[in-house]
Amino acid sequence: MDSMSNTKGGNAGSSTNDNTGHDSLSSPGRTIDSSTGHLSHSSIESSDSSGASIGDKTSKARTYDEDSVVRGGFYADPSTNESLDTGLKTATAWSSNFWLKPEPVVPDTPERIPTGYTISEPGSIVEGSGRTYNGYREGKYLLPNDGAEQDRLDFQHEIFRIAFDGALTLAPIGEPSRVLDIATGTGIWAFEFAESYPNSQVVGTDLSLIQPPRNIPNCTFVREDSEELWVHGFKFDYIHMRQVCTCFDNDMAVIQQAFNHLNEGGWMEIQDGYLELNSIDGTTEGTSLQRFIDLVHSGFRAMGRDLLKAKYYKKWLIQAGFVDICEKRLPVPINPWPQEPRFKNLGRYQNANFHQAVEAISLKTLPKAGLSQVEARDLMAQADRDHNNQAIHGYCSIYVVYGRKPCAWEISSQKLPSALNQ
Ligand SMILES: C[S@@+](CC[C@H](N)C(=O)[O-])C[C@H]1O[C@@H](n2cnc3c(N)ncnc32)[C@H](O)[C@@H]1O
Repeated sequence: MDSMSNTKGGNAGSSTNDNTGHDSLSSPGRTIDSSTGHLSHSSIESSDSSGASIGDKTSKARTYDEDSVVRGGFYADPSTNESLDTGLKTATAWSSNFWLKPEPVVPDTPERIPTGYTISEPGSIVEGSGRTYNGYREGKYLLPNDGAEQDRLDFQHEIFRIAFDGALTLAPIGEPSRVLDIATGTGIWAFEFAESYPNSQVVGTDLSLIQPPRNIPNCTFVREDSEELWVHGFKFDYIHMRQVCTCFDNDMAVIQQAFNHLNEGGWMEIQDGYLELNSIDGTTEGTSLQRFIDLVHSGFRAMGRDLLKAKYYKKWLIQAGFVDICEKRLPVPINPWPQEPRFKNLGRYQNANFHQAVEAISLKTLPKAGLSQVEARDLMAQADRDHNNQAIHGYCSIYVVYGRKPCAWEISSQKLPSALNQ
């Protein structure tokens, strides 16, 4: 068991042995097979009209079998044929079965216990694929917000912790009083930060309120579109955002607003994946994985999102007025091909993460890039196989960029070098 996985908060699952001989780690509603790394959701839980439901058997949530089919925004309970209004809005009807999962590759998946929480947010939208998307500011965010994506985000969090040698932040933040985590997702970073800094008050914001009730008193969540006017009644000492390259129409405006909402001397830090496939020996050239990534970029671009925007963060921080800016780019192998144990481990996590992400990042992008559903499905399967192939020595990267809001007296001093000269 990975030590960091063990220290995770949330509900610890139980370990069982199924008749395949694989150890499987289970938690309420979800199971991960530690040999295949495949997550299975044993149930979908929907709430009554009072609010979000939680994959916690102690909650008031009602449980339905996952075989229940999502139709017209309703989960149909197969035992009674009863349709239940979950508060989910519907987009297109599901008429075909083209968006099957890619043929299973079996990544060497590190063991990790999922938190066991699935927050199914009323007002979310079930699309034709069966995946669920944010209903608040509908259409603004292009990835799902459902249980499978929530698990993936929590899993992906481990990649950052490994890449940062266990740290949550690389900026020299000291002991910040007030902390903001923009686009917090499941809130996993915010929760862990709040636990590590008990004297900090941490606020996480997101379009989707998919953060489980963890009873960590110095951590709260607010629904907010970060591209609109922020309504917090105080300023922050540290503002963090991670994995946001798919989020904003105008990143510079978000960074500027962060600058305005920081106390003097406060830090902003952006941590983001960089989906550019490199290799040490040319083995990625001509692969289906490379083609897949190119088409995903092209699909995102067609919808106004540049997945390679992290290379501009430093420039944008300078333009916003930050100083002491630091930019780092860390390699993340696509699978465990490297010999070094640390990178081998990072590659194991990244391989499993890609396997879980491939559908979510394809659903809207590959059709935009001109692929038919059948072509898309085939390419997804081939890309997944390439990603798992240790003869392909590829790597992507993580960008980390941080900067400090200068004090007023620093800006007025003519002796200091201009931030723009950095
Ligand atoms: C890839 S997830 C990253 C979540 C989290 N930061 C992490 O690293 O685990 C991106 C998150 O950004 C949120 N998001 C997208 N657009 C947003 C916006 N305009 N304002 C606030 N949150 C947004 C999404 O709902 C989603 O939860």
